[in-house]
Amino acid sequence: MARRRQIYEGKAKILYEGPEPGTIIQYFKDDATAFNAQKKGQIAGKGVLNNRISEHIFSSLATIGVPTHFIRRLNMREQLVRQAEIIPIEVVVRNVAAGTLCKRLGLEEGVQLPRTIIEYYYKDDALGDPLIADEHIACFGWASQDEMNDIADMAIRINDFMCGMFAGIGIKLVDFKLEFGRVWDGDFSRVILADEISPDSCRLWDVKTNRKLDKDRFRQDLGEVGEAYQEVARRLGLLNPEDGEEAGAVLDLDEHRKKRDK
Ligand code: TMP
Ligand code: ASP
Repeated sequence: MARRRQIYEGKAKILYEGPEPGTIIQYFKDDATAFNAQKKGQIAGKGVLNNRISEHIFSSLATIGVPTHFIRRLNMREQLVRQAEIIPIEVVVRNVAAGTLCKRLGLEEGVQLPRTIIEYYYKDDALGDPLIADEHIACFGWASQDEMNDIADMAIRINDFMCGMFAGIGIKLVDFKLEFGRVWDGDFSRVILADEISPDSCRLWDVKTNRKLDKDRFRQDLGEVGEAYQEVARRLGLLNPEDGEEAGAVLDLDEHRKKRDK
C-alpha cells in the first residue's frame, strides 16, 4: 500500500491524511493506557472492536440528526472521517456515580445520580486533563457560548439515545466521554461530534450483574478485558455468529492480515 502521511499518533489511535482534502483516516490500535498513560498495555483485538462499535454508534447518531465526523469504515482498523478543528475540551456525561466523581466527592460507586451531570475537562496531557468550569472555557476562548450551548444540547441527546440503545441490550450506560470539532463553511463554523465512542470512552455495566464491560477492566486489572469489548460488540449485533463472523474469527483474520502486510 502507498505510504500515507501520518498526522498524529495518540494513545489509542493514529491519524493519517485522507484520500481527499478535508478527510482523515483514523487507525484504531490495540494499545491501552490509563491514569494519563502511567499504566500501559495492549488489549488484543481492541482496535478492530472499537472501530466497529464506534462506527455503529456514530452512524446511529447521524440517523437522529447528530452531526458527526464519521464518513465510512475503510477496513477492520480504519475509518474515514471529516477533518475538524478539535475543541480542546473533554465532555463527560454521567448517569451513575463512578470513577473520578466518586474519588472527588466521596460517593459510593454505582449510586444512581438524581440528574445527569455534564462535566468539562481541559484536554492537556501535561496537566492531566484538569476538570474545568464554563468560566474557564469562556475566559480562555476555548469555545464560544453558542458552541457550548450546541455541545451541551448534543451531549444530552447523545446520552438519551445511548441510554436507550444500551438498555435494549441489557447494558447500563454509567458515564462516557465525548469530543467535538469545528468545521468551517466559508466564514461560518459549526460543531460536530468527533473522536470515537467505544468501551474505551464509556463505562458500561451489565444491567443484571453490574459486571463491567469496559476499560475499567484494564484500569483495575479485572481480567477478561478483550472478552468484555467482544461482549459489547456481540450484544450490539456487530459480531454475527451465523455469518461465521464470530469474534475469534474476526480477530484471527485481523492477525493474519497484520502479519501478511508487515
Ligand atoms: P473518569 O471517571 O475517570 O473521570 O471518567 C469518566 C468517563 O470518561 C469514563 O467513561 C471514562 C472516560 N474517559 C475517557 O474516555 N478518557 C479519559 O482520558 C478519561 C480520564 C476518562
Ligand atoms: N486514556 C487516558 C490515559 O491514558 C485515561 C483513561 O482512560 O483512564 O491516560
